[in-house]
Amino acid sequence: AWRSRLRRRLLQWFETNSRTLPWRQSRDPYRVWISEIMLQQTQVATVIPYFERFTESFPTVAELAAASEQEVLRHWEGLGYYRRARQMHAAAQKIVEEHDGEFPEQFADVLALPGIGRYTAGAILSISRDHRLPVVEANTLRLYSRLIGLRSPPTIAASQRVLWEFAESILPQRGSGHLNQAAMELGSLVCTPRSPTCDTCPLAAGCVAREMGLQESIPGKVKK
Ligand code: ADE
Repeated sequence: AWRSRLRRRLLQWFETNSRTLPWRQSRDPYRVWISEIMLQQTQVATVIPYFERFTESFPTVAELAAASEQEVLRHWEGLGYYRRARQMHAAAQKIVEEHDGEFPEQFADVLALPGIGRYTAGAILSISRDHRLPVVEANTLRLYSRLIGLRSPPTIAASQRVLWEFAESILPQRGSGHLNQAAMELGSLVCTPRSPTCDTCPLAAGCVAREMGLQESIPGKVKK
C-alpha cells in the first residue's frame, strides 16, 4: 500500500511540476538517448540548445552514423566530456550495421552499445517503450537513498543492490517511464544535494532521512 501511495503522490506532483523539456516532446528512443547522454555530466539548462542543434543536424540514427566524427564533435563543442560524443557516434554506426538503423528494443542489445550502461539503457527503454526497468542515476540515487534512509556509502556494492532493488520495487506495471522521469525530476528540483526543500516534497511524510533529520547527510560522501 505504501508503494501505490508513493507512486500516486509522485505522479501527482509531476503533473503540475514537470518542466517542459524538448526531449519530452516525443518518445523517439533516439531522442531520449541523446538527451540522457547529454544530461549525464551537464545541467538541463545547458543541454537544451545543444539538444536542439544536435537533433536538427542529425534527426535520425542513420544520419548521425553517416556524419563525420569531426562534424559530430563540432556539435558537442562546449559540452565537454567528448568521449560521450565519440561513443554515441560509434553506437549509431553499430545500430545501422546490426539493427538496420532501428534503435534496439532488447535491454541486452541496448546495454551492448558503446557509452550505454544500466541506468541509460533503463531510462531509454522505460521512457520510450515503457519497459518496466529501474533507473538509478544522480538524482534518483539521492532521492531513494533519503527515502529509505540509506546510511552506507551509495557506491558500495551492497548499497547499489539495495538502491536498484528499491528503484524496481516502486515501478508500476504500466507507466514506468513516467514514474522514472517523475523521480528524476523530484530529485533535480526538490530533493537537491544541498538544502533540499522537504517542505514542498510530496514524499516527505514517508522519508526516513527526513524523519531522522539526516536529509543533508544522506547520501554519504564518497571516499576517493
Ligand atoms: N537527468 C538525467 N536524465 C533526466 C531526465 N530524463 N529528466 C530530468 N533529469 C534528468
